[in-house]
Amino acid sequence: MIIAVDGPTASGKGTIARALAAHFGLPHLDTGLLYRAVGRQVELAGGDPDDPAVALAACDFAESLLTDPALRSEIVGGLASRVSIHPAVRRALYDRQRAFATQPGGAVLDGRDIGTVIAPEAEVKLYVTASVEARAQRRFAEMRKRGEAVSLAAIEDDLHRRDQRDSGRADAPLRAADDALTLDNSHLSAEQSVAEAIRLAENGRR
Ligand code: DC
Repeated sequence: MIIAVDGPTASGKGTIARALAAHFGLPHLDTGLLYRAVGRQVELAGGDPDDPAVALAACDFAESLLTDPALRSEIVGGLASRVSIHPAVRRALYDRQRAFATQPGGAVLDGRDIGTVIAPEAEVKLYVTASVEARAQRRFAEMRKRGEAVSLAAIEDDLHRRDQRDSGRADAPLRAADDALTLDNSHLSAEQSVAEAIRLAENGRR
């Protein structure tokens, strides 16, 4: 069984994908991490993320980069969004994601284009979303907990920019697959959101 979980930044899709993987006993791949590794590699090399040749060269990153804590930063998230626009970068990362999705026994993948491009045959497709306000509030609380100085308005601006870039790009834009089940968790706690995702996946599988 392949489970595709797509959605915008800070929608809680990663938490949901991990919970679904544990529930169904499947391996999980956070595909955003691959784009983040490319963004981070560009940053380390001091290159321009908007240059397709520079971004493509960065796809050849070392495996050890995938465990770099810097990958989780907002700066690297923004760089990932910028490098992910280039079709050559998407092509370079395709085989790895496709192989993970089609491994025997199935898998859970989360990202932006899993249900539309990477695994259009997925048995279960969830499109996880929430209002910009709800997502910004969550990110704000997370960052404050880590002791980072941030403003809610700056986070909202950044989410708008990321949403526009991820949904507006020509190649594999963020969108719900026609056969995806949408889970809007603007008014749900993390626990309620996970429970609803499991319920939808159980029903969708039948
Ligand atoms: O899910 P995330 O925030 O870690 O993803 C970072 C960026 O990577 C996101 O803004 C767009 C890009 N991305 C993508 O284009 N396709 C995916 N399947 C996953 C992420």
